Amino acid sequence: MNGSREASGATIGVIERYREHLPVTEATPVVSLSEGSTPLIYSPRLSAIVGRGCRVYLKYEGLNPTGSFKDRGMTVAVSKAAESGARLVVCASTGNTSAAAAAYAARAGIQCAVLLPSGKIAMGKLAQAFVYGAVVIALDVNFDHCLKLVRQLSSEPGISVVNSINPYRLEGQKTAAFEIIDALGNAPHLHLLPVGNAGNTTAYWRGYVEYHRLNRATRLPKMLGFQAAGAAPIYYGRIIEHPETAASAIRIGNPASWKMADTAFQESGGAIQIVTDEEIFAAQSWLASKEGVFVEPASAASVAGLFKCWSQTTCASFPVPKIPDDAVVVCTLTGHGLKDIAAVLNDRVKPLSAPANKAAILSILEKAK
Ligand code: F0G
Repeated sequence: MNGSREASGATIGVIERYREHLPVTEATPVVSLSEGSTPLIYSPRLSAIVGRGCRVYLKYEGLNPTGSFKDRGMTVAVSKAAESGARLVVCASTGNTSAAAAAYAARAGIQCAVLLPSGKIAMGKLAQAFVYGAVVIALDVNFDHCLKLVRQLSSEPGISVVNSINPYRLEGQKTAAFEIIDALGNAPHLHLLPVGNAGNTTAYWRGYVEYHRLNRATRLPKMLGFQAAGAAPIYYGRIIEHPETAASAIRIGNPASWKMADTAFQESGGAIQIVTDEEIFAAQSWLASKEGVFVEPASAASVAGLFKCWSQTTCASFPVPKIPDDAVVVCTLTGHGLKDIAAVLNDRVKPLSAPANKAAILSILEKAK
């Protein structure tokens, strides 16, 4: 279809890069937007904070074509939907999955419908779903309920569900772990990431385990996941009926991949933790102003978690100081900051006004020193 292999000179997407590890055949029409191969950014400041010779990297998934890690899974899920002759792809979403589904469906020439919790989606993501041409349906229920409805739709002929309950999604998303090992020459000692529906945790762990089995890495990382404190079913071990957090992407009370993610935390010797909205926003602002990396609130949960866990006093149950000296640490940053500008445009974000002359500007700069 979009045969990136024929398009010589084009950047390849995750199916072409990792074809041998993915459930595709020659018969699978590759629906790709050249996703993946995202930057792994070394963070000198976070490395200094963790100390003891540890190196901290940021896997910046906001640089995927629709601005989040969902594109990795969506290229596989929509390619397989096209292969099976689906006429409609459908998903429930807190925003990013719907943006990715809509884009890849547009690319494949398949109709897309997205079920969203009404009024709970960041505007950038909603704009994406519309502009990519999806049928956008807002429901007066939360994400978990939207997903229930999508499960009911899955039995209809010609419909392919592209939430992470579709196994092809997780297959695609595991390629992020491959990329990290390919870039570092080994797996990190510790991997931190935000947790919502828990698919990404599951997918990363799968990728790490597969590459380890193939001797591409000599170790496996400890997986350390972070839920928002008001939407932390895995941490508390119970369904949260009314999850609440300003990090709308991870406002989820009953994660679809709960059990598999639990296994990843346990098998890896890692843990699930919580961070408050205040900690999330502080980390978001820190990342942008200290490292030049702008992410949406949910994405900052991994770095908020690093800040919390690097000290035994703020995180006694999983202190990062337990990791060895000279350890390699990766934090996944799942989505781009521009998706949710309302989250940062508050009263403090106002340009300074000045008369249009050099002296006035120099005087402002003097005060800003
Ligand atoms: N970060 C962002 C930016 C997300 O959009 C999501 C999930 C997560 C983290 C959590 O990942 O669900 O695999 O544990 N967003 C989904 C959506 C639920 O509909 O876009 P997860």
